[in-house]
Amino acid sequence: MITVVVGTQWGDEGKGKIIDYLAKDADIIARYQGGGNAGHTVVLKDKRYIFHLVPSGILYPDKICIIGNGVVLDPVSLFEEIDYLEKSGISVEGRLFIAENAHMTLPYHKVLDQIEDKFRGRGALGTTGRGIGTTYADKFNRIGIRVIDFLEEDIFMEKLKIALELKNYLFREYYKEQMLSPDRIYKETKIYRDRIKKMVKNIAIYLNEEIEKGKDVLAEGAQGTFLDIDFGTYPYVTASNCIAGGACTGLGVSPKKVSRIIGVVKSYTTRVGMGPFPTELKGIEGEVLRKTGNEYGATTGRPRRCGWFDAVLVKFAALVNGLDELVMTKLDVLTGIEKIKIAVAYKFDGKLYKDYPLNAKVFSNCDVVYEELDGWKEDISTITSYNKLPGNAKKYIDRIEEIIGVPITKISVGSSREQMVER
Ligand code: GDP
Ligand code: IMO
Ligand code: MG
Repeated sequence: MITVVVGTQWGDEGKGKIIDYLAKDADIIARYQGGGNAGHTVVLKDKRYIFHLVPSGILYPDKICIIGNGVVLDPVSLFEEIDYLEKSGISVEGRLFIAENAHMTLPYHKVLDQIEDKFRGRGALGTTGRGIGTTYADKFNRIGIRVIDFLEEDIFMEKLKIALELKNYLFREYYKEQMLSPDRIYKETKIYRDRIKKMVKNIAIYLNEEIEKGKDVLAEGAQGTFLDIDFGTYPYVTASNCIAGGACTGLGVSPKKVSRIIGVVKSYTTRVGMGPFPTELKGIEGEVLRKTGNEYGATTGRPRRCGWFDAVLVKFAALVNGLDELVMTKLDVLTGIEKIKIAVAYKFDGKLYKDYPLNAKVFSNCDVVYEELDGWKEDISTITSYNKLPGNAKKYIDRIEEIIGVPITKISVGSSREQMVER
């Protein structure tokens, strides 16, 4: 059966660490959406790995890893990652597979993503510049290039010309940028063809067969619920369905095969890029969280915006994902803060909002209603049993659990695999 692991905030909740932790009990780890915009960190024996496209279960030598059809695949980024892994002594040979119908991110997608965001001026989204939105746009515009198209040279060239026609017109006439030649892209990407050929599969058939045999699949979400194209803080979102439902369309499996849905939640809130963030701490308190939590983007290195835990958001995430349980990360980062706040509602125009409003005007301009809890001072980073946590840390966990209505089953107190409290 399938367990889906999904981000419940604006990404960077610590999904990489949790996937690595849970992967020990799975047979297959599969990414279902997003692309090189993701940055999933796994720390193993003091070595830090950052995964953009390769699933976070790859460090276990006996696990199969899959890049599903819902992912947009940038071959440059993929092979940089694979080469780094191979150099570190981790072989992916014969155990990393790519869906034939995944769409490819090509050089023009990245160039266009960066130019478009620059042209948005004050309305810029602050994308990662990895060509994510532009690849998905081509997919939905039906001028995308799938992995299977890339593998057949003549089909690739034909589709490349079609995809570049309008883009080159825009580059020349509107953006006043250099045009991109299909021949050059064709030549530059040639080196990846044989390597990719060895890794492709009809993943829908493969996964369904493996599940039929009794294999356990861990579906790895990227980004988070509030970056979801449908349910996030639109337009300040990414271009895919990050929520648990995306696992079915992004892997080719029926919802009937999903048996468990786990949300990863950070014990406070962060966001990278632009967009509304009601509980953001703009002063020294935000700075403290950023420093203690080392909140800098794993993909772009940008400082992450930091703020208090927003229970209104996570409650909505529990609903749209159908969470069975929550894993809370980075509780250690809150150590030493005297009073810790939890957002429980918003106020706008004299009205109280206990649920996440999809109206951007409300969400961008609301005041926040907080509850305040006492903090703790003890170092918790070496604690592995729930009973040993300070009383106030337990009260914080209990209160969040109560508001969200989903059990918090594990608590992470540091970046390495061992720093985990099972409840
Ligand atoms: P992801 O995108 O959801 O996988 O999260 P990122 O890897 O982008 O960001 C999470 C960061 O927090 C990484 O640097 C992790 O190594 C780190 N991390 C994960 N869990 C914990 C934790 O419990 N405590 C601390 N201090 N760091 C953590
Ligand atoms: P992981 O998987 C945090 C943000 C970008 C930007 C917006 C759109 O590591 O949690 P995009 O390049 O996707 O078009 O950018 O989404 N963003 C992320 N923020 N974690 C991520 O991934 C993100 N992937 C994209 O910063 O605001
Ligand atoms: Mg990340």
